[in-house]
Amino acid sequence: MAIRTIVKHPDPILREKAAPVTKFNANLHKLLDDMAETMYDADGVGLAAPQVGILKRVIVMDCGDGLIEVVNPEIIAFEGEQFDYPEGCLSIPGLRGDVRRHKWVKLRGQDRHGQPFELEAEDLLARCAQHEIDHLNGVLFIDVAERVYPVKPDEEGE
Ligand code: NI
Repeated sequence: MAIRTIVKHPDPILREKAAPVTKFNANLHKLLDDMAETMYDADGVGLAAPQVGILKRVIVMDCGDGLIEVVNPEIIAFEGEQFDYPEGCLSIPGLRGDVRRHKWVKLRGQDRHGQPFELEAEDLLARCAQHEIDHLNGVLFIDVAERVYPVKPDEEGE
């Protein structure tokens, strides 16, 4: 595994739409392994492939209950609203934002071998999933935040 460089805003690659994964091969597995290592190294809770310069629909998340890898993720159902957590992004260090997100989402995606699965997420994990899927469409939290403000010195990370 290797820690990859995290692309920072305003790099234009963060504005590109990522392509679906069609090959579930060793390259994908290396990308997933590296993304997880990069996310943990940066103390983040989520990372999308465009943030390491790869325009593929791949995300990793860990909101405290273990690593979740989702290839070709999509939101197939959602409910409720949350607006009470300062959202950040490893590609936009130093800023936080108030972002209205669904409180609960159901995701459909594939694992690293191409096996389809569904995943229900709420609260922070639901927020993280929506944030990471936005990355796959070139959308950053500063685009959808109702307010953006500087991070307090003691809370860097996603
Ligand atoms: Ni982000």
